[in-house]
Amino acid sequence: MKEELKYRINNTSPGMRKKFVRETFDSIAETYDVLNRVLSLGVDMSWRKFAVNMLGDIRRKNVIDLCSGTGDFVPLLSTKGACVVAVDFSLPMLIKGKEAGRIKEYAVAADVCRLPFAGELFDAALVAFGVRNIPDINVFIDEIFRVLREDGELVVLELTRPDNFIIRSLYKLYLSFGLPLIGGIVSGRPRAYLYLSKTIESFIEPAHLARMLERGGFTKIRILRRFLGIATIIHCRRCEHIRMSLQ
Ligand SMILES: C[S@@+](CC[C@H](N)C(=O)[O-])C[C@H]1O[C@@H](n2cnc3c(N)ncnc32)[C@H](O)[C@@H]1O
Repeated sequence: MKEELKYRINNTSPGMRKKFVRETFDSIAETYDVLNRVLSLGVDMSWRKFAVNMLGDIRRKNVIDLCSGTGDFVPLLSTKGACVVAVDFSLPMLIKGKEAGRIKEYAVAADVCRLPFAGELFDAALVAFGVRNIPDINVFIDEIFRVLREDGELVVLELTRPDNFIIRSLYKLYLSFGLPLIGGIVSGRPRAYLYLSKTIESFIEPAHLARMLERGGFTKIRILRRFLGIATIIHCRRCEHIRMSLQ
């Protein structure tokens, strides 16, 4: 099983990995919200609020919530006056968000690497806890660039590894045993939570992601570490000029 998981997070076959990721989230949609709060001890909500507050004035702006899952961000963005489009390829996750009353208007079931929207339609984009599930990150970055208007904002919130060696080692233990155990008991899908912990352990460092974003045409990149580095928020802006000069 370990070998299989290793294979699953091998990015050489994006199509296969995406199928696996979609099926994984389909299977945990029912318990996803409860587990999110339990596993993060509720801290995830403060990260979410922080991420939304990094966006400027979004009143009457079009905002796309990429990998929106059960839509935790939708009310946070809507109360700031934005028109929100939630996109996720797991229909059960979106349905859960609708049932919970968070996703009220626009929900689109699609791969975020192939968005069914015209170019330069959105003023801001947000992706939380989604990038590390995406095998073809460069394609994803290109797609965000395409749908964002010039100078549009992008906020990425992702689970990362702490900088401090001791905390990092303790966190690794939690990822290897605690997360799959608790996630497995509550959801009945230990394999799904083993996969999620592997994605945190193996995901690229925030600085690497920032370089990829810069090469993809994003500028004014700010990296903020939260909670000892367990989460990281990246804020940046679309810039045609940067893209032209670096590609
Ligand atoms: C960990 S959940 C995060 C959900 C939500 N953003 C949140 O903050 O709770 C990751 C979500 O990304 C979605 N996802 C992963 N890869 C995707 C892709 N290529 N296209 C669309 N959705 C994707 C999954 O279906 C899942 O709902």
